[in-house]
Amino acid sequence: MSTLSNKRIIVGISGGIAAYKSAEIVRRLQDAGADVRVVMTPSAEQFIRPLTLQALSSHPVHADLLDPEAEAGMGHIELARWADLILIAPATADFIASMVHGRGNSLLNAIILATPAIVAVAPAMNQGMWAHPATLENMALLEQRGVRIFGPDSGVQACGDIGPGRMQQPQEIVDQVASCFAGQSLSGKKLVLTAGPTREAIDPVRYISNHSSGKMGYALAQAAVEAGAQVTLISGPVNLIAPERCNIVSVISAADMLEATMQACSDADILIAAAAVADYRPVTVAAQKIKKHDDAINLELEKNPDIVSAAASEYSNLFVVGFAAETQDIESYARDKLQRKNLDAIVANDVSRSDVGFNSDDNEAAWITATSSKVFGKRSKTQLARDIISAIADQIDD
Ligand code: PMT
Repeated sequence: MSTLSNKRIIVGISGGIAAYKSAEIVRRLQDAGADVRVVMTPSAEQFIRPLTLQALSSHPVHADLLDPEAEAGMGHIELARWADLILIAPATADFIASMVHGRGNSLLNAIILATPAIVAVAPAMNQGMWAHPATLENMALLEQRGVRIFGPDSGVQACGDIGPGRMQQPQEIVDQVASCFAGQSLSGKKLVLTAGPTREAIDPVRYISNHSSGKMGYALAQAAVEAGAQVTLISGPVNLIAPERCNIVSVISAADMLEATMQACSDADILIAAAAVADYRPVTVAAQKIKKHDDAINLELEKNPDIVSAAASEYSNLFVVGFAAETQDIESYARDKLQRKNLDAIVANDVSRSDVGFNSDDNEAAWITATSSKVFGKRSKTQLARDIISAIADQIDD
């Protein structure tokens, strides 16, 4: 997987001669998998045409703070919230000074003031301007505030001077952007999740299913996105909104879920099977609604395919985590499933209780591998999901 898959980057361009390199930065960020938006200061437009950047990024270029039409689309606050990282390249001496003073006089300044995202600058200026005490003090202040500083390089400058102040090369800048996300535990990993119940049709109006709400699986999808993974969420029918940035595949039956899972796992690193797959399905599905003439009817059922086992045996490099929904002897039944289904780890939970397991907001579980086990006491499914994701990250790092 590309190093910046799933990442949202704003490339902010201020008005310097190095702005011509910004087009190459946009292209290389996209090659690394990032979703890129471009914001230009008015003076940047003197150096590079917005149309070039619009064509490269496949999105309108944002430039005007006071443009009602643009604000009605993706306004400056939305852009500030949207980004994971804002890269100002080139960052001129004047733009750096405006950041230090917290100015909000251009769209780019306003976004930087409002954003919770990582902010990085790639300075580009004449060597004399770079060496000026005002610039050096400004850079030190930005660094103290947590702004990442990429470069500058030293060498022959556009004006003919020789010295520090040249913007770094596009690939160097892109590599440093990628390193800002390196701490995320599943960065660069493709993760597939099954969640929710399946429904097995009896006739056009009736089906066999179970009490799974999908909450556990959706919490895992959210935690995996937070950890930097590229997530495909294969979901049975639930009443939940999928976390942002998941590729969601909606399915109904176990057969659908099997097909979607096998396809998604072909290039994945991790599978987490949190779905409560219906174990049996009717051998035949009545074409018309079954009439209620008889006091009793017999349904012949056949076993559904085991999705997690099929993926584990087909894809030997996949790290596979199953769930075990048990009502008694939880650890021993879970260990049996771990072995029988050829899993790397299993999360065992008690589905006989009403305060955890099916449909509740909390859960309690044991993380079990062939050689270890760890109990996660009762906590929110959101927190348990984060704990499971970090257990997976620890395991695949070993
Ligand atoms: O959805 P919620 O309301 O939040 O509830 C969460 C949960 C209780 C459903 C979840 O935590 C959970 O336990 N999911 C697994 C439920 C289950 O089917 O467990 P099992 O012990 O029957 O199956 C073992 C493993 O095999 C599971 O990973 C299951 O997804 C998988 N399986 C089972 C049958 C089958 N035909 N194919 C499978 O892949």
